[in-house]
Amino acid sequence: MAKMLIAYYSRTKHTQHMAEAIAAGAKGAPGASVEVKPLDKVQARDLLDYDAIVLGSPTYYGAMAADVKKLIDESVAFHGQLAGKVGGAFASSANIAGGNETTILGILNAMLIHGMVVRGLHTGDHYGPVSIGDLDDRAKGNCIEYGNAVAELAVSLHG
Ligand SMILES: Cc1cc2nc3c(=O)[nH]c(=O)nc-3n(C[C@H](O)[C@H](O)[C@H](O)COP(=O)(O)O)c2cc1C
Repeated sequence: MAKMLIAYYSRTKHTQHMAEAIAAGAKGAPGASVEVKPLDKVQARDLLDYDAIVLGSPTYYGAMAADVKKLIDESVAFHGQLAGKVGGAFASSANIAGGNETTILGILNAMLIHGMVVRGLHTGDHYGPVSIGDLDDRAKGNCIEYGNAVAELAVSLHG
């Protein structure tokens, strides 16, 4: 069984709704166990317990929210121990070109520095799912596809 964590920061629930859709997709992958948690329920040490870690953030000035960066910075205490885990990211913004991709790439950048294995998508949202405002059908479909793909990779590497 591969354990997957989907952790998110969300003030107005847009990113939370994405997390829930990603979890629905991930649960469709046989052999994956999936937990969804708001970031205030996640400590850096908890990341050690999972085979796959997917982090979601609203886009704040083209980057991840400070709470997400805080978790990442605190994860330095476990540098080296996250290597080989599967990583992924998703983001919500108000505007179509509002910075979702730069937010996602900021999170993935940290995951790569940890030595994590990042899953992209050749269809849909390539770097990770994005939502403009709250979840619509387009974003929901990409979240489900992404959750499933990340969970399948986690099962193939760690299941
Ligand atoms: C401090 C702050 C900065 C923001 N910066 C951006 C931005 O750079 N680009 C953008 O499109 N939206 C920006 N937004 C809007 C949020 O990214 C957007 O409302 C998002 O969907 C909120 O997600 P949530 O409901 O999960 O909190 C900003 C919002 C706040 C509060």
